[in-house]
Amino acid sequence: SLSTASEAAPPARVGRLRSMQILVTGGAGFIGSNFVHLTLAQRPDAQITVLDALTYAGTKASLDGVLDKITFVEGDIADAELVDRLVGEADLVVHFAAESHNDNSLANPWPFVQTNLIGTYTLLEAVRKHNVRYHHVSTDEVYGDLELDDPERFSESTPYNPSSPYSSTKAGSDLLVRAWVRSFGVQATISNCSNNYGPRQHVEKFIPRQITNVIDGVRPKLYGAGLNVRDWIHVDDHNTGVWAIIDRGQIGETYLIGADGEVNNVTVIRDILEAMGKDPNAFDHVTDRAGHDLRYAIDSTRLRTELGWQPQYRDFRSGLQATIDWYKANEDWWRPMKAETEAKYAATQKVVQAPVEGDADADGESH
Ligand code: NAD
Ligand code: DAU
Repeated sequence: SLSTASEAAPPARVGRLRSMQILVTGGAGFIGSNFVHLTLAQRPDAQITVLDALTYAGTKASLDGVLDKITFVEGDIADAELVDRLVGEADLVVHFAAESHNDNSLANPWPFVQTNLIGTYTLLEAVRKHNVRYHHVSTDEVYGDLELDDPERFSESTPYNPSSPYSSTKAGSDLLVRAWVRSFGVQATISNCSNNYGPRQHVEKFIPRQITNVIDGVRPKLYGAGLNVRDWIHVDDHNTGVWAIIDRGQIGETYLIGADGEVNNVTVIRDILEAMGKDPNAFDHVTDRAGHDLRYAIDSTRLRTELGWQPQYRDFRSGLQATIDWYKANEDWWRPMKAETEAKYAATQKVVQAPVEGDADADGESH
């Protein structure tokens, strides 16, 4: 009978009904803060601790509206004592913290080695000791780049071939995770996602840099000829993919996250100008990035078929419009970082004549 069943039910509310304790590293950055907002909206029971060093890329303002619902710890993922304590209190670690910008890695690679490699090592040692489930957030850039006409896209079996100090340290951190799974039985999964866009992305990155330039009456800046292709995905779709892997992914496995959003850079700039009511050709070509990857493209079949994940944002232009609206409405958020970011760029990037169309490698420097 029903009463027997309820009498036989486990007495402990503790344990079974205890809400999940999640440690989110890098939760004051772009994708991590969106992960915190999404998780609290969809899983009101989740208990979140954010560990973030608040580097130039992180701000507590990205957690406005949820700071009273989480525990915020300012600290470094390479601080072994702190990490050991926080991991010891967690049921799940979701690792977003990283040095994330390719241009910065060309100017000074050291913080990338320190955070992406030593920081990840430090987390792995802690999850190994405390036997805590770990999800590792990585990038499609670990696979290098593709030709524009290559019919293949990146998949879980594509060999690693990173180009930049950023992508090589992310590749190295992925390999550490794989080794800790195989050697020590760490309960980990890995995701490699394509280029994200959406609210709260630092203005050093391509899309927010151009939107905020246009707001400021400054011409958008295109590297080289702008034929480089990126595979854009809305940040919320990335994060629902991360949750699908945490909930249903197989331990030790890698899943690629992508939303079939391939667009070249010059098209993105023209789309932004048009959406903001400007002449679509009112942009500057500037010095190209050294070693600039030509094309990224993700085949996310595995995530879709094995874990039943689907992106919600299927139309890049409407996602872009929503992102433009967010930057227009949230100048308080990005204004403090804009001048410093542009000063950094001005030191290395010069306006050049339009490189010849079809020659993505031309540097087109005018003298
Ligand atoms: P971001 O630069 O916006 O945020 C990084 C956050 O990590 C910041 O809040 C920063 O303060 C924090 N941080 C940096 N070093 C730290 C340290 N040593 N200790 C603690 N915190 C530290 O980066 P993002 O774009 O949100 O990327 C998040 C993750 O997603 C990264 O691992 C990145 O490689 C990966 N990724 C990004 C993209 C993308 O398009 N942005 C795509 C795929 C994967
Ligand atoms: O693919 C995933 C990766 O996407 C993530 O791992 C990285 O963390 C993230 O920064 C991003 O890397 P990219 O180098 O592709 O992103 P970024 O926004 O720096 O540049 C996107 C493209 O736009 C790239 O081809 C360079 C170009 N670009 C960039 C800037 C900042 C411009 O043409 N002009 C610019 O001002």
